[in-house]
Amino acid sequence: MPAKDKTVNVAMIGQGFMGRSHSNAWGQVSRFFNSPHKAVMHSVFGQADENPAAFATRWGWQNFSTDWPALVASPEIDLVDVVTPNKMHADVAQAALEAGKAVACEKPLAMSLADARAMAQLAKKKKANTYVWWVYRRCPAVALAYQLMRSGKLGRIFHVRAVYLQDWAGESVPLLWRFDKKIAGSGAHGDLNAHIIDMARFLTGQEVTEISGAISETFIKERTIPTAGAAGGIAAGSQGAAAKGKVTVDDAVLFLARMSGGAVASFEATRFATGNQNRNRLEINGSKGSLIFDFERMNELQFYDATAERAVQGWTNIMCTHGGSHPYADAWWPDAHLIGYEHTFTNMAADILRVQAGQEPVVPLSDFQDAYETQRVLEAALLSAKERCAVKISAVK
Ligand SMILES: NC(=O)c1ccc[n+]([C@@H]2O[C@H](COP(=O)([O-])OP(=O)(O)OC[C@H]3O[C@@H](n4cnc5c(N)ncnc54)[C@H](O)[C@@H]3O)[C@@H](O)[C@H]2O)c1
Repeated sequence: MPAKDKTVNVAMIGQGFMGRSHSNAWGQVSRFFNSPHKAVMHSVFGQADENPAAFATRWGWQNFSTDWPALVASPEIDLVDVVTPNKMHADVAQAALEAGKAVACEKPLAMSLADARAMAQLAKKKKANTYVWWVYRRCPAVALAYQLMRSGKLGRIFHVRAVYLQDWAGESVPLLWRFDKKIAGSGAHGDLNAHIIDMARFLTGQEVTEISGAISETFIKERTIPTAGAAGGIAAGSQGAAAKGKVTVDDAVLFLARMSGGAVASFEATRFATGNQNRNRLEINGSKGSLIFDFERMNELQFYDATAERAVQGWTNIMCTHGGSHPYADAWWPDAHLIGYEHTFTNMAADILRVQAGQEPVVPLSDFQDAYETQRVLEAALLSAKERCAVKISAVK
């Protein structure tokens, strides 16, 4: 008889937009990847008024709970997956760490630097496996960019030009938790700049050392208070009632940065870039070449090889779908049968299972300590915007 597969019993806390994308990933991962450990969708937590029983049945969770502290402490659970609004990340992750679990937490790591620091310190003390869902690292095109950069194809890095542009937050959108500082911590900044800061650090291998010129703006100062049943937020669509409440986060944050290897960088995150719905775009310029990734064309990586004969130098558009050549591609479909957003989560679940089994991920995962470094950059940019001055990251601890 073949040896029984080892299993990882997952408990997921939250059942909104990310609850659906993570459920899909945990359900698919062991079908598409030969994971050394198999994910078991043990239990999902949802608030009573969200009908967690129906969610569990629909997405394939074996059990449901309306009591997250009891669930994360259960001896049957190996890994706790945190997909709640930012405010809850610290409480849930710390309870899970105290109970000896591995923790996979949505980004940003926390809604404040203090929470992020406490989470990283506890993870270190508990020697726990921790993971943060920076899923764009796991687009095959971004993972390929990482491999090209590590092999020296770009040479010395001069520029990182990063934007994350969305346009969903017009004034008819009600006062979702994403507009409330007490629940989200910040707006487009923690939501979108967090991703491109992580990608810039991940791809270049350089740390941000100084921020300057940060600007923060809130275009819509008040929004209607959501009516009951508007849970699910931007993914489900939502409606507001007549009463209005104050928006307490940014709609857009832009800033400049210096990096430890001598590169200079610019970052822009906004929910008001009309016509750009999910344009997470990075351009990196080096002495030997350049790369461009744009999530709205996520299967492609653009590469400019400045070492090629001058007569044929030009941008190459690489379709990153070739199994054997492109990261993660061999788990999916034949060449040019494109993948989408949801596959990045499944790729990440596969890497988590590899690490849980003592193996290496395809490209590095971020743990709480690593995500704390991104949170320091977020904090420094907010300080720079508030004080209208340059801020050294070494001063933000
Ligand atoms: N990795 C990514 O690309 C990505 C994309 C979107 C969101 N996120 C992150 O995922 C997290 C969740 O975002 P979302 O879009 O799924 O939000 P959502 O609003 O769609 O869902 C949040 C879930 O948490 C539950 N919840 C809210 N308040 C709660 C409370 N006080 N107690 C218990 N449960 C509560 C909600 O009922 C819901 O099930 C956020 O941290 C967000 O930044 C990450």
